[in-house]
Amino acid sequence: MSRSILRKDSTAQGVAKQRLIETLAPPDKRIINDPYADRFVIGASLIKLMGHKFSVWLTKMLAPGFHEHLIARTRFIDDLIKDRVAKGVEQYVILGAGYDMRAHRLELPPSLNIFEVDQPEVQARKRSNLPQELMNADNVTYVSVDFNHQSLAKQLLAAGFDQSKPTVFTLEGVSQYITKEAVESTMKELAVLTQETSATFFISYVDKCLDENPAACFGKGYPNAVKRAEAIKHFSAKVGEPWITFYTAREMEGLLYRYGFSLKENKTLAELNSMYFTPVGRTLPEDQIVKLEHFVVAEC
Ligand SMILES: C[S@@+](CC[C@H](N)C(=O)[O-])C[C@H]1O[C@@H](n2cnc3c(N)ncnc32)[C@H](O)[C@@H]1O
Repeated sequence: MSRSILRKDSTAQGVAKQRLIETLAPPDKRIINDPYADRFVIGASLIKLMGHKFSVWLTKMLAPGFHEHLIARTRFIDDLIKDRVAKGVEQYVILGAGYDMRAHRLELPPSLNIFEVDQPEVQARKRSNLPQELMNADNVTYVSVDFNHQSLAKQLLAAGFDQSKPTVFTLEGVSQYITKEAVESTMKELAVLTQETSATFFISYVDKCLDENPAACFGKGYPNAVKRAEAIKHFSAKVGEPWITFYTAREMEGLLYRYGFSLKENKTLAELNSMYFTPVGRTLPEDQIVKLEHFVVAEC
């Protein structure tokens, strides 16, 4: 694997790794199931050997609650997609898809047109690791876009995106890596793409508190919150994908409004803990809550 792809896909691998770890949990305890995650993670065999409990413990040593935070985000979007598909959405655009396998693991109807958008190098590695037999393989179209430099609308329309079909877009774990200008121009392009139809837009964003008041980004009593916030930023910069973009809730709502979207939900692990982890006996205590990233659903 070349050095350039390693630099480009390290964060995509990072989240796939947490999905792999969660998938190793006993079925009655796990929050999501991603049977394909191991295909994209270097060292997957070792993680499988270590198992769910030990791997979650290791993640906890680095940042308590971070595994659960990422898994809650994945589950929240899984539920959103299933709900919107049941309500008649006909297209799904996965922005910054990385090694997201929702298209194939959620038992979505074959009539749903799915577009996966990411950098060409990440898509090439993903496609070369896909199994031959894959549910809904024919409904996925790969669209290469660099959000910082290319027009999303132009690329999507060229790939067959239908502006008359109700659509759901997700931008999961991406906004922090691209410029504010790129986030805004992506929203502007979504507004253009959806002017003739209804749309749901999921976006996750990192709260400005990470820069300005790190303690507020974690639950009360979280150990070494300030140091941990610095370590998270330092780590992402070191692997070549620094976090550069942050918002307040007000800024995000204003931005969505500017492009015709009204905010429906804004959640963090603080709210999703009781929804997902409590029913399976895995409630996180307050001092392990990570709430630096928000999960937002907007509609137009
Ligand atoms: C943390 S990963 C999240 C991947 C996926 N959404 C998930 O949750 O599994 C961030 C993704 O954003 C993509 N990305 C980062 N900068 C990008 C850019 N400028 N244009 C297109 N994609 C980008 C990366 O290639 C990577 O797949």
